[in-house]
Amino acid sequence: MAIEKVMVVGAGQMGSGIAQVCAQSGYDVLLNDVSEEALQKGIQNIEKLLTRSVDKERISEQEKNDTLSRLNTTTEIQDVKNCDMTIEAIVENMDVKTNVFRQLDAHAPGHAILASNTSSLPITEIAASTNRADKVIGMHFMNPVPVMKLVEVIRGLQTSDETYEAVADMAKKLSKTSVEVNDYPGFAANRILMPMINEAIYALHEGVASVEDIDTVMKLGMNHPMGPLTLADFIGLDTCLYIMEVLHEGFGDSKYRPCPLLRKYVNAGWHGKKSGRGFYQYS
Ligand code: CAA
Ligand code: NAD
Repeated sequence: MAIEKVMVVGAGQMGSGIAQVCAQSGYDVLLNDVSEEALQKGIQNIEKLLTRSVDKERISEQEKNDTLSRLNTTTEIQDVKNCDMTIEAIVENMDVKTNVFRQLDAHAPGHAILASNTSSLPITEIAASTNRADKVIGMHFMNPVPVMKLVEVIRGLQTSDETYEAVADMAKKLSKTSVEVNDYPGFAANRILMPMINEAIYALHEGVASVEDIDTVMKLGMNHPMGPLTLADFIGLDTCLYIMEVLHEGFGDSKYRPCPLLRKYVNAGWHGKKSGRGFYQYS
């Protein structure tokens, strides 16, 4: 069954980016969030990025308008009834995600694939909350979605080959390069990236160097495009903490212990760029 209509659940920084690349690649997109306000913020973000692409002569005004015409919004998850595929990009929390997957499973057509953009949570467990574990899969985009080329495609224990092929094919249609990854805490990307970010926070916590100097070490010393503390702010400190907790619990190894300073910032509501304050101050 061809994938034509996609529901993206969550209109935050990842969901809006996923909705944008899907619509730009010709898919009909229904963007879902819990409030009209969140949906409008997501759509405004997409409009802004498309306008920038027009200004830079990467796309025409016509392409921008065509993309926007393929994007619709809804606060009703039941509207998934006509979709062939869903990509969930809501908060990194198992209870919240399984609650949404149960609803998607109840209302989506039988043939629909249910994908999660989770950074680290077990796909097998998300799948077990549905009656279609063979059609549940991880489709892990990188931030910012319109720019980054990679998609990790994660097979849960019961994901069928047919589902895997359909999602790998879709990633190609979105002009992304996909890698096949098995269901293990943090998959491949965050198992490697997040301990580096956590270690950078420990270095700050222990007074090894300042925020700016830690970032400079990795930017100028290792040619990373962003320093680890800037990157943590960019990802969201709440998301970083959730991922470290999944690694810590999943492996039972103290090397993944989230840095207390990261927890302190998250408890203070310092969630990084999106909240205006993280390791740096924004606006
Ligand atoms: N959304 C969309 N596009 C964006 C963007 C955003 N938030 N930020 C920058 N861009 C675009 C810009 O528009 C620009 O495009 P044009 O060339 O068309 O103008 C391009 O990216 C380059 O931007 P800039 O010149 O302003 O800045 P830069 O050269 O520093 O690049 C960056 C910005 C691409 C974000 C770069 O800093 C970078 O690669 N940073 C690291 C990103 C990264 O590591 N991402 C992975 C995070 S981990 C993850 O996603 C997994 C997880 O589960 C947590
Ligand atoms: P975000 O906080 O920017 O956005 C989350 C959105 O989900 C918000 O708009 C919120 O209103 C919405 N939401 C919450 N509960 C909902 C529900 N029940 N139904 C519909 N919408 C709901 O978060 P984000 O950074 O976009 O992250 C989303 C997911 O993507 C997480 O699982 C995260 O781990 C993953 N991810 C994040 C990054 C990153 O760099 N931030 C990268 C890859 C993957």
